[in-house]
Amino acid sequence: MSENLKVLGINYGGHDTSACIMINGKFVALCEEERYIGKKHTRNFPENAIADCLKKASISIDQIDEITLSYNPEMLKIENFDQIISPNRKNLKIEDLKKLVQLRSQSFDFENFIRQKLNFKGKITPNLHHLCHLASCYYPSGFNDALVVSHDGIGEIDCSLMATAKDGKISIFHHGNQWPNSLGLLYASVTHYLGWKYNSDEGIVMGLAPYGDDTQLIPGGKKTFKEIFKDIVYPVGDFDYEIDRSWIAFHDVRDKWISEKFVQTFGPKRNPEGKIDEHHKHVACALQNRLEEIIIQQLKKCKEKFGLKKLCLSGGVALNCSLNGKIVENGIFDEIFVQPASGDNGTAIGACYLSAKNLKKDLKPSKWDSYYLGSSFTNDEIEQQLKNFKIKYIKDKNLTKNIAKQLANQRIIGWFQDGAEFGPRALGNRSILTAPFPKEMKDILNSKVKFRESFRPFAPAILSEFASSYFDIQQETPHMLIAANVKSDKISEIPAIVHVDNTARLQTVSSSDNLDFRKLIEAFHKETGCPVLLNTSFNVKGQPIVNSPLDAIKCFLSTEIDVLAIGDFVADKRDQSA
Ligand SMILES: [Fe+2]
Repeated sequence: MSENLKVLGINYGGHDTSACIMINGKFVALCEEERYIGKKHTRNFPENAIADCLKKASISIDQIDEITLSYNPEMLKIENFDQIISPNRKNLKIEDLKKLVQLRSQSFDFENFIRQKLNFKGKITPNLHHLCHLASCYYPSGFNDALVVSHDGIGEIDCSLMATAKDGKISIFHHGNQWPNSLGLLYASVTHYLGWKYNSDEGIVMGLAPYGDDTQLIPGGKKTFKEIFKDIVYPVGDFDYEIDRSWIAFHDVRDKWISEKFVQTFGPKRNPEGKIDEHHKHVACALQNRLEEIIIQQLKKCKEKFGLKKLCLSGGVALNCSLNGKIVENGIFDEIFVQPASGDNGTAIGACYLSAKNLKKDLKPSKWDSYYLGSSFTNDEIEQQLKNFKIKYIKDKNLTKNIAKQLANQRIIGWFQDGAEFGPRALGNRSILTAPFPKEMKDILNSKVKFRESFRPFAPAILSEFASSYFDIQQETPHMLIAANVKSDKISEIPAIVHVDNTARLQTVSSSDNLDFRKLIEAFHKETGCPVLLNTSFNVKGQPIVNSPLDAIKCFLSTEIDVLAIGDFVADKRDQSA
């Protein structure tokens, strides 16, 4: 790459809009629009994220050499359809494409829109959405040779892409699963049926799944939930799967996700505030199990064909940590890497890598685990906000040690440090933390702060060297995206983070991942003998993770968080009422 080349990656055209800046092949800023406007999974143009990226990089838009996009709107133009359909997308039908364009109403000129919005005169490069997903997980994996796979709701028209990668070159071998054959959209449909928000709350359905039993018979029927889901979605050939359209409606009507047949078979759609019945749990279970079966079978075929020992996974479906855990448990690969922003937010990263590869042909994968390049604030800025709110606080020279003691005393800590994480998981810079014990800590946290569904688990962060002693896992998982069984002899030590199926979505923390967060867990370990903290995102239900000191202070004041550790400062709720 030529000297000081500056690339701005933008994810716009779908949900989770985002931006990032890469300078000379290195990321300097990764920002998500939802954090600035308080609207999860926003589709808004990421103007705040772009502005913050430019601020972090200390450059203006005029200094950007290239804008690289994670969509290619040319693929949704009717005049290009014949070319798009052949030769790689044999299962794609032109009538489906026309319907898709009608449903998405996205035929406007991206390039001119962005040019005008940003007053940018330089080069703008569109990229295939799923190729961005692939690049976003291959290049930072550090794996030289790998299978690289993405599954999501939908990109332009593809719902999945499969490639092999070697020496920095990604070679697509299968454009699989074109719309409407989408595992991501099927999961979204069932999420909607179960009363939660599609393209948002799929993780809740995943959390509900272990409470169900898909071997039960459907209400008044002769088939089991499992058998019906085998009818709904089934593999075709080695790498494809198809969805029987009689069960879905999203291919035909906007925002109508499932068909009448689905409701007649499984029972009424759940109201968002309604009771969770047994059949809801069985549907969640059947969906999750079917997803796992299909993808694991697909990956086994890939292993047979290419023999690759490492897997890079991306796309919204890769946020399903239970699926990722099953892939690891199956032992198909020696190691898997899941990019922390596997959803569409992370495609901005992939678009930058693709531009870097175009400019610097010898770009190679390089292990990168530090995704804390969002908004950051100085201690002066933080202190000013504390003063604005008349918060009583101290500047604590022994902050880590003292917060560890508070955690040991089972207090709830709002932990706000350095740059914001990129992706949906709080990885120790915008986190709410507690001890992983006693078991009731989960309910206390829910009733005082998070207000989540009681069945949903909280996740553990563990010093990496202890991971294999506490969990059935032999690899690092720094992005909290792989579920693993908790060792039976450790369940009673960390009961607040154990899910009903005895798994947990763990985050391993090493010095290279997040040193300050690691020091806190080390101090807690020293204090209690336990190398694990409960780590959940610093937000309340339905809100994005807090981004600024202002957001953090508001969340601290409006919930029963006991202590706010923000920059070098500590504010205790007890002192506020004094
Ligand atoms: Fe995507």
